[in-house]
Amino acid sequence: MTQIRLMKPYISFDEVEAGFREIFDSGIFTRGQHVEAFRNEICAYAGARHAHLTTSATTALSVCLKLLGVEAGDEVIVSDFSFPATANVVEDLGARPVFADVSLDTFNILPEELRRRITAKTKAVIAVDAFGNPSGMHEIAAICKEHKLPFIEDAACAIGSREGGVSVGGIADLTCFSFHPRKLLSTGEGGAITTNNDSWSGWLDIKLNHGASGMLGNGLDFVEHGYNYRLSELQALMGRVQLRKLDAIVANRNEMRNEYVRRLELAGFIPQYRASDVVHNVQSMVFRVPESVDRDVLIGRLREDGIETTIGTYCLSGTTYYRRRYSDVQPNSERLQRETITLPCYEGVDVEAVCKAVVRWSNG
Ligand SMILES: Cc1ncc(COP(=O)(O)O)c(C=O)c1O
Repeated sequence: MTQIRLMKPYISFDEVEAGFREIFDSGIFTRGQHVEAFRNEICAYAGARHAHLTTSATTALSVCLKLLGVEAGDEVIVSDFSFPATANVVEDLGARPVFADVSLDTFNILPEELRRRITAKTKAVIAVDAFGNPSGMHEIAAICKEHKLPFIEDAACAIGSREGGVSVGGIADLTCFSFHPRKLLSTGEGGAITTNNDSWSGWLDIKLNHGASGMLGNGLDFVEHGYNYRLSELQALMGRVQLRKLDAIVANRNEMRNEYVRRLELAGFIPQYRASDVVHNVQSMVFRVPESVDRDVLIGRLREDGIETTIGTYCLSGTTYYRRRYSDVQPNSERLQRETITLPCYEGVDVEAVCKAVVRWSNG
């Protein structure tokens, strides 16, 4: 039986009970005060001019590609070490996700790999903040600018992180967040897009809301075909409660990270590197295991001890689907998929006990 879970939500029912009651009493479940307020609060927090709420990071990424006009025959360069959604949204439009390998240190897209993969067909770049780490994102933004390519930051894991004093959400042309339960801020399912581009923001306003705008019958006209990718009032309220605590959550996770690193580095575990000008939200506490350790065996042994852990994330080019389709497996990413482990990290985890178990099982 699992005693230490991998992640716990940073929200309790007590914190939303009164607000939920008000929403139920008012009968306003969509497009009410909490959605509007959460949007504004994300803007302020991320330092972006506009924010749009979505049903997930996947729908956020997908609609951003549509906004940029990505279609069949186009190429979009994507970080190869990520969750499959990063590439699936490209594939889904009939375009080709071009996998760029990542750094063995930061786990983020390598600038030279990005440059090497740019062709006349490249329509956009999706760089991932691996486990919330934004190291190198300003450099990626500069390369995209040099080549006049729109930069979408897949910040699914990165709310609360910063690079060079700039919050994630204010670095790329379009930034997509996830509010899935494995993230620091969770609305069950959910997501957001931030941008400083006024006309893109206007387009998103319309597209995310059935293509509606202006005034015709019943006060609405439908000027585009569109989607319903909206968050509800209940979800927005959950998001607001957690956003207020986010900086404290990030600080706490960094304290835990320091303890993990202090205890496990001596045993040969290598933590994800983040540059000195980075605030990393530590969405996942990820280490590369020593070469002598079989990561999958270690995960199994820890499970027997009641400690839930998991792999880092996926080498997208090496998944059955993408390997079969493009035969372009990226070596660093493949290695990271094999060597990385995610350990429990949230308030209340007994880091000493987890580390002792990790070291014990790593020694045989
Ligand atoms: C890097 C990355 N991109 C996209 C997603 C998809 O997020 P969502 O579940 O909100 O669609 C995830 C989910 O974990 C992710 O880690």
